[in-house]
This record gives sequence, C-alpha cells and structure tokens, in this order.
Amino acid sequence: MNKRVYIETYGCQMNEHDSERMLRLLEGSYYLETRDPQEADLILINTCSVREKPENKVYSALGRYKRLKEERGAVIGVAGCVAQQEGPRLLDRVPYLDMVIGTHAISTLPDLLEKIEAKGGRFCKTEFDEKGNYLKSILPPGSHPKVKSFVTIMQGCDHYCSYCIVPFVRGREKSRPSAEILEEIRCLAERGIKEVCLLGQNVNGYGRGLEGEIGFSELLCRINEIEGIERIRFTTSHPKDLSDALIKAFSDLSKLCEHIHLPFQSGSDRILEKMHRGYSTLSYLERIERLRARCPEMAITADVIVGFPGEEEKDFNQTLDLIKKVQFDDLFSFKYSTRRGTGAAQLDDQVEEKIKQERLEILQGIQREVTLQKNVAYEGRTEEVLVEGCSKQSDQDITGRTRTNKSVNFKGDLQLVGKVVPVRITKGFAHSLRGERLLNAS
Ligand code: SAH
Ligand code: SF4
Ligand code: F3S
Repeated sequence: MNKRVYIETYGCQMNEHDSERMLRLLEGSYYLETRDPQEADLILINTCSVREKPENKVYSALGRYKRLKEERGAVIGVAGCVAQQEGPRLLDRVPYLDMVIGTHAISTLPDLLEKIEAKGGRFCKTEFDEKGNYLKSILPPGSHPKVKSFVTIMQGCDHYCSYCIVPFVRGREKSRPSAEILEEIRCLAERGIKEVCLLGQNVNGYGRGLEGEIGFSELLCRINEIEGIERIRFTTSHPKDLSDALIKAFSDLSKLCEHIHLPFQSGSDRILEKMHRGYSTLSYLERIERLRARCPEMAITADVIVGFPGEEEKDFNQTLDLIKKVQFDDLFSFKYSTRRGTGAAQLDDQVEEKIKQERLEILQGIQREVTLQKNVAYEGRTEEVLVEGCSKQSDQDITGRTRTNKSVNFKGDLQLVGKVVPVRITKGFAHSLRGERLLNAS
C-alpha cells in the first residue's frame, strides 16, 4: 500500500525544485504526496538559512510535528540549507528527528528511508558531492501534469558576497554539462512542459570552469530550438556577469521571455564594496539602460538589502535614488541579517534593528507605488498569457502569466491550461492583473 509524504518548503526556487525532485524519488518508493501532515507517514521540512526568519521556521515546524511522531510514528526529516549548515547538531537538538539530508544528498533519501523502515536509526548526510552527481536530472515518470518546470543548470556559488551564507550551504559553483541540460529539456517538452525556468545562483556565469563548454547565451540559443518549449526564463543573474551577448539574446530569441531578475543589493558604492559585489551603481545602471535599449518592454525585478553594517543615512538615500531611477517592476527587500561564518558577521558597525525596520518600510512604501503604476500601465494592452490553471481567488477564473512574468486572472475554461492565449488587460492591481480573453484575435 502507498504511504503518504508531506513536504513543507521554505526558501528559494532551488528549494522548491529540490522538493519536487524529492517527491519524484519518493514516488519510486511508493510514497504519494499529501497536503495534510496529519495523515503523513513521512514529513520532510525543506529549509532555508539565508536570513534569520526563514531559518527559525524549521524549529517551529519541528515543534508542530512532534505530536505526529509520538501518535502515528511518522518519520521526520530535515532537508535543505539549514540541514546542511547544522548537520548533526540538529539530531542532537531534536531527539525525535530521524534524518538530516544536506543539499547534495537528496538522492540518498530512498536508501535512508529503507534503512529507517527496516531497522530504525537516525542519519545525517551532509557531505558535499564534488563530482556533481547530485545535479543529475530526476524526471517525472510519465506525462507531466504541469505547464512549467524548473531545470537546474548550475549549483553552488563562488562569489562569497560578505553577507551571504549560500556558498557555505550549497557548495562550490558547478555547471551541468549542456548536453545533459538539453536532453532534460527535450524530455520535459515530450512530457508536455511548455515553459522552463533555468535555475542557478548566477546563471549568467554558466559554463565557468567546464572545459570546452558553451556559455549562457549559447545555451539559451540551443534551448530556443527545442520543439514544444514555448517560453524560457532564468533566475538569478549577477550584474557583474551580464554580457552584451545575453542582452542581445533578449531581442533575438523568440522564446526568451522579457523579464530579468537582477539583484543590486545596495545603491551605495561604499556598501557594494563592503558586500564584495564586484560592480558599481553606475555600471549597474548602464546595464539596465542597455537592456531597455535592446528590449523596451523588459520587466526588471531585483533584491535589495537595507541595514548592511555601516550603512548610513546617505547610503540608504542612494539606494532610494537607485530604485526611483530604475523603476523596478517589483522588488524583494530584506533587512540585513547576520549569518554566522560570513565575512560581514565580523563587522562591528551593525545597524540598529529599529533603523533597519524604518528603512525597510520607507523603501517598500516607495516601491509599492511604482509596482502599482507599472501594473496599471498594462490596462488596455493585449498580452500573450500562458495559462497555468485555476485562479486561487475564484473557481470561475483561470490564471496565467504574461511574458513579462505578471500574473493575470481572467474568465476561462481549464481546457486552456498549457495554451498561450491573447488577453486584454482590464485592470492592474498591486500584485496581479485582471483581463479578458480575446476570442477573435488573429
Ligand atoms: N544568488 C542570488 C541571490 C541569493 S540569496 C544573487 O546573487 O543575487 C537571495 C537574496 O537574499 C539576496 O539577493 C539578498 O538580497 C538576500 N540576502 C542574502 N543574504 C542575506 C542576509 N544575510 N541578510 C539579508 N538579506 C540577505
Ligand atoms: Fe550569495 Fe552573492 Fe552567491 Fe548570490 S552571488 S548566492 S548573494 S554569495
Ligand atoms: Fe535559502 Fe538555500 Fe535558497 S539558504 S535562499 S534555500 S540556496
């Protein structure tokens, strides 16, 4: 009889993708997914340690599931970046935890479960896999019920920005061979996938360190040729590695969607230097200009940190100047959070929590207005929307995304899922667009 697995996921798209990969592996061990932890035989918490808030979620989640362990004997595991960071300490701290699965150890999951089910025991797998076997594709067995899929093209990060834990929990940067990536995407297209999102910490550095391998823009060209794939996206890009060839790809490749997520982190050169980002605000702005010159309809989103150690009022004001200049479609803004072991953790000019909070609110207030205006500017336009499924707000509506990655809700039939349809935008809201399907569009 099938058993049930419940997976709770925090963090970035890489973690979302890893959760999907774990589910696929577990299907081979006769586990089916459940959305109700109460009926689960296996509970996995896929964790993120990028900032304090997501990191702490693992302990409250574990607290919630303690009872299920006692009452139902559910097996409990922690995966992801906190698992990688804490390793055996997690097993020591949480006596009812059965396994800790590091970021390179996902493929060991079926084996660990077999051992636990047969003989019990508690396991911790956090060795880094230098050969990169953990990057190998784990494809869905048959036809895929989804419209879009992530595809990992590289893992890890060698940038060591001074605030960031990611290089420590995801290991060294490693690109997958392009032949493997292209094969995976061909298989996904055969299974009905229409959109791929290429994943990596700095995808535009793709190919670095792989002898004779193609670069990122050439990889995009080859994916653009794959029959059945209609849209290509990628995340995240590093401003330092944003080449002219990539900028050109946005106007040359028909399937490459007009959206880029290009974190800038701060608008102050002094702070950027302390962060070890490797670019100046001027060069960031020049790149944005070049992107818009090539592709005027391009949607641009970014990440920004407020309250990095030593950030003064004037640095923060420069960050505000930058966001006013660029007019981002959306912005993910964070208060600086000290991460043990990172370079910035040693700096002693930490910014007070109260000031960080005030700066965050000011910045978010400005951006909220810009995002709304950007969405309102879509009113009256006709957009190509790839339909993804039923809308969360109403059974009558379906939902999809524009090429610029805006969510659109409109009246329609679920038969349209997986199709690209023309939709006239009737209203722009803070987080989405409303539209109506154009039936007579040629
Ligand atoms: N590889 C991506 C981002 C990875 S982490 C890049 O280089 O852009 C996602 C975002 O979390 C970062 O862009 C940054 O804005 C934020 N972040 C990372 N570490 C942080 C920290 N210690 N405190 C606050 N925000 C942080
Ligand atoms: Fe972190 Fe910097 Fe690497 Fe991005 S580039 S993952 S922010 S170290
Ligand atoms: Fe978090 Fe790990 Fe992603 S720290 S942001 S889940 S790489």
